[in-house]
Amino acid sequence: MSRLDSFLRRIIAQRDCLNSAVEVISGIKGPVIELGLGNGRTYDHLREILPEREIFVFDRRIAAHPDCVPDAAHMILGDIRETLPNARERVPALAALAHCDIGTGDAAANAEIAAFVGRHLVALLAPGAAIVSDQAMARPEWEPLALPAGVRPGRYHMWRVRP
Ligand SMILES: C[S@@+](CC[C@H](N)C(=O)[O-])C[C@H]1O[C@@H](n2cnc3c(N)ncnc32)[C@H](O)[C@@H]1O
Repeated sequence: MSRLDSFLRRIIAQRDCLNSAVEVISGIKGPVIELGLGNGRTYDHLREILPEREIFVFDRRIAAHPDCVPDAAHMILGDIRETLPNARERVPALAALAHCDIGTGDAAANAEIAAFVGRHLVALLAPGAAIVSDQAMARPEWEPLALPAGVRPGRYHMWRVRP
């Protein structure tokens, strides 16, 4: 598969998983946590598909399209290793959805940050909340969710916090 095809499949999987999470969290109150603003594509998609939810975005820098930058109250700047453990100071309620998109080409670094993120997300999510992630980060508190049709297992990941 060409790198272009691989990229397209990853982006389509990301979009389809986020769309499918909307139904999963329909009965769960709470904001959305977005880990990795990047150029703001998934932030923009989340605010389109979940217009009634507050979205709190974490990144170490702002490098997004100017139309896709959260306001200061919803943009938590800094290394996630420092900001996530204190996130309840900024995120006022347990979240209904977390989307994690902070992977790089370094598999060992990805595994390390995914384990860290998983440990800290546990305290930030409501019962029944959905987790959508580019990295595998299974937790005993979470159960795997079926991926949308067409998304190959391992390309993207979804769990739900056990009620
Ligand atoms: C792949 S991009 C996110 C793309 C974004 N979801 C989009 O759709 O445009 C990954 C982002 O994660 C951020 N990131 C990676 N590791 C981080 C860390 N330890 N702390 C804070 N931000 C981090 C990077 O700065 C980068 O902006």
